[in-house]
Amino acid sequence: MGLYDDRVLPRIINTVCGSKTIEPLRRRVCAGLSGAVVEIGFGSGHNVPFYPAAVSRVGAVEPSDVGWKLAAKRLAATGVPVQRSGLDGQVLPFADDSFDAALSTWTLCTIPDVAVALSEIRRVIKPGGKLHFLEHGLAPDERVRHWQRRLDPLQQRVAGGCHFTRPIVELLTTAGFTIDELDVFYEKGAPKFAGADSLGIATSP
Ligand SMILES: C[S@@+](CC[C@H](N)C(=O)[O-])C[C@H]1O[C@@H](n2cnc3c(N)ncnc32)[C@H](O)[C@@H]1O
Repeated sequence: MGLYDDRVLPRIINTVCGSKTIEPLRRRVCAGLSGAVVEIGFGSGHNVPFYPAAVSRVGAVEPSDVGWKLAAKRLAATGVPVQRSGLDGQVLPFADDSFDAALSTWTLCTIPDVAVALSEIRRVIKPGGKLHFLEHGLAPDERVRHWQRRLDPLQQRVAGGCHFTRPIVELLTTAGFTIDELDVFYEKGAPKFAGADSLGIATSP
């Protein structure tokens, strides 16, 4: 990783992902989480204030040291024990069935092999465990998709490998998840090509 990806990008992500306007979405995606939770792409911990009290512990998976450091204030303010216990969603250092649930927000866009990451999530959550997801991806409208395809190569370069064009729901169902709840919408205040969100809960069989 170069200086930009290592030192600059995590700070940009911290600012963008720290926007107050998306806090209601974070509240929604975290609602109902309980027990031991693995969070993939923890970033700088912007979901931490929204973990329900029923969450007993969180295993945070995050490659960026800078992101983890920027989470310090939120970690100090929560009563939920959070341990940074992995660096890559594609290789989770956990035993099978060791979590009750998983959480991923705006991360499946970036993990290089997202199918492998989803199979790892399935492996480490118990049968019947829930994945709470809030992800941007391929838009429902062809006009927006056109721009997403055009801008994708640039986005990957400037945003650490982030893709605009991943079909989130299809990826989840192909990985064997069943979709229980789903809301697909354009995020207020974001350009449509970047803010085509899927928010929901999927169950691992
Ligand atoms: C757009 S940020 C979202 C951060 C956080 N989930 C949030 O909602 O604020 C994407 C995150 O995915 C992380 N990431 C990148 N590659 C990853 C990988 N292979 N495994 C897990 N996380 C990864 C990045 O470091 C970054 O923190």
